[in-house]
Amino acid sequence: MTQDKQISTLFKQRYQHEPDVICHAPARVNIIGDHTDYNDGFVFPAAIDCGTTIAASKRNDQLVKVYSHDFGQSYTEFVLNQFSFDTEHMWCNYIKGSVQALMEKYPNLRGANLVVTGDVAQGAGLSSSASFEMAILKTFTSLYQLALDGKTAAKMGQQAENDYVGCNCGIMDQLISAMGKKGHAMLLDCRDLSFEDAPISDELSLMIINSNVKRGLVDSEYNLRREQCEQVAKHFNCKALRDVTLSQLESAKGQLSEVQYRRAKHVITENARTVAALNAFKSSDMPTLSQLMAESHQSLRDNFEVTTKEMDGLVAIVSEQVGTEGGVRMTGGGFGGCVVALIPTKLVDTVTKQVKLQYPQQFGLTADIYICHASQGAFRHVEEV
Ligand code: GLA
Repeated sequence: MTQDKQISTLFKQRYQHEPDVICHAPARVNIIGDHTDYNDGFVFPAAIDCGTTIAASKRNDQLVKVYSHDFGQSYTEFVLNQFSFDTEHMWCNYIKGSVQALMEKYPNLRGANLVVTGDVAQGAGLSSSASFEMAILKTFTSLYQLALDGKTAAKMGQQAENDYVGCNCGIMDQLISAMGKKGHAMLLDCRDLSFEDAPISDELSLMIINSNVKRGLVDSEYNLRREQCEQVAKHFNCKALRDVTLSQLESAKGQLSEVQYRRAKHVITENARTVAALNAFKSSDMPTLSQLMAESHQSLRDNFEVTTKEMDGLVAIVSEQVGTEGGVRMTGGGFGGCVVALIPTKLVDTVTKQVKLQYPQQFGLTADIYICHASQGAFRHVEEV
């Protein structure tokens, strides 16, 4: 509510009238299942209580005016249908890409006055960009009462990243930001977009630890990983690595490069771990979940090579404290950013203390620790809470 008041005040200062709508879309954390989404596999994320908030009013022309309060208070504007990549305001390309995708379905869309704010740590791998895309799409949907559902919105956000921004990401981040359910994590099948909500027990805390290592080379390395996976799927004449079994991979080991083998091994085993994690999660089997999260991290480190020594170090510190009572691993795309831990609430203080003590000693860096709560996606109906 206070956030809504603040953004309303900013909006009135900028445009001298009240906003017609205020829309919010959450960021996400992924509990297990990384680099599986673009292989038609499984992921297990939750939407979290930070994200992007937008105040907006309708316009009768095709102009979109945007004040952003998080990128040095910058302003830009553009005309719908005259899209050009913005090298000065990189953040605006998420808006342009999303609106362009929306206009394929709604070509007569009119413009808007916007004020945008966000509280997601930038470059931390918590999907500030997906939350931005979903917030923009939700804003236009609400302003002009469009019949846009969450799955379609998620695909449009992904299209914005793939075609406009140039990152060949999968669907996980947009889908969870659109369709997450308060208090729940979601097992998502990225092939047909069917999902199952799984309640997070009150006794568990969802901890995110930002290594504060700036994510580097993300897009190029990310796109390269995706290409390597697609090469292996092609080798097996399959649509995606989802369709390749571990025994098929083992039998073909000699025909693949060593790197291709390891990339595919990660994806195939990570899919199995993610499905197994849902079952462990539902039956509160923490030792199994702990083991699966540990194996996921090792595989992302050794087979997929997307962790950093700082992320590995954080995982080791947390794991030593929680043992089999909790799980910890890197989360998201990797190459820096955050680790996620699912731990008994009673251990939060001990873990926090040890991370604050040991991480600076070992790496000369300070970690930021957030205890977050699973929140509602931008397109998930309120009555479903
Ligand atoms: C990024 C991408 C997602 C997904 C993760 C890794 O967050 O945007 O689509 O591939 O990396 O799981």
